[in-house]
Amino acid sequence: MKLAFIIDPISRLDPGHDTSVALMEAAQTLGHEVWITQAHQLSVIGGTAWARLQKVRLTPVKLVDGRWVSDSNWYQLSDEVLTCLEDMDAVFMRTDPPVTMRYLYATYILELINPAKTLVINSPQGLREANEKMYTLQFHQVMPETIVSQDKSIIRQFVEEKKFAVLKPLGGKAGEGILFLDPSDRNFNSIIEVSTQHGREPVMIQQYLPEAKDGDKRIILLDGEPIGAVNRVPTGSEFRGNMAVGGRVEKTDITEREREICAAVGSKLRDNGLYFVGLDVIGGYLTEVNVTSPTGIREIDRLNNTNLGKQVIQWLEKAIPSP
Ligand SMILES: Nc1ncnc2c1ncn2[C@@H]1O[C@H](COP(=O)(O)OP(=O)(O)O)[C@@H](O)[C@H]1O
Ligand SMILES: [Mg+2]
Repeated sequence: MKLAFIIDPISRLDPGHDTSVALMEAAQTLGHEVWITQAHQLSVIGGTAWARLQKVRLTPVKLVDGRWVSDSNWYQLSDEVLTCLEDMDAVFMRTDPPVTMRYLYATYILELINPAKTLVINSPQGLREANEKMYTLQFHQVMPETIVSQDKSIIRQFVEEKKFAVLKPLGGKAGEGILFLDPSDRNFNSIIEVSTQHGREPVMIQQYLPEAKDGDKRIILLDGEPIGAVNRVPTGSEFRGNMAVGGRVEKTDITEREREICAAVGSKLRDNGLYFVGLDVIGGYLTEVNVTSPTGIREIDRLNNTNLGKQVIQWLEKAIPSP
């Protein structure tokens, strides 16, 4: 197969952590061609999507004393070639959030790819449908109590009822802008004003789950089915578990309750063409559905001795009809 990955600049990726690298490496190991590009290198020509692609050759990471170790020169790139993306068997859209207008424009370009020729993962339409915070509300029966509002009095009333809550900007990722809310905090009003830009932008307010101190579990779903999980435990005085803010990763299993959550979301994800997704689950409640560039497979593989990248590419081999 020929695979294109739309990623952030490869020089900024961490081969021992980033799932995009794990997927590319697995594709290469299984004998497929791996090409890369960036969202700003896409064009529409003749009614379909083209990109300036570079073929990449990776030196796979190695597990040494329980850590992924990479070469300092872990990738080599060919010259750029302007290519029709319909010449690829699949395109992975893996640009990191935030989902800006530029990101959305990229999804409109990808939308023009003939699905009979090339599978786009995740589906451009699905990426537009699924704001990572808001989409979760479609599964509110497995979610903690949550409101979305820019109205200070509505927010205050909710937080007073719940005693404590967590505020989430709707476009955030990796713990950015996530705030703990205590209604007796003297900064409470100011926090809401700053976060909602004085009542102009809605934010998500969610009941605080004390179980968060035991971890925020990342569950990776492939085509609606759970394939692995890792727990992220907050460290020090931090209440957020994100790896990007120092969360410690811990080996874990998927519980019966978490399988129910996966079953509740799986078919909807499949319908939306959201094939590769990371759920966040705290204390048996779904808190986020990550669809843009979910990560975690390097950590899961390291702790569980799996190869989820290989599993994804083997699934793709079956999903794509051979010519
Ligand atoms: N309802 C909640 N109760 C307690 N802690 C939470 C809650 N929701 C999120 N958190 C903490 O905040 C972190 C980030 O939240 P999340 O919704 O996953 O947003 P993102 O990862 O996109 O920043 C989580 O890793 C978790 O530690
Ligand atoms: Mg998260």
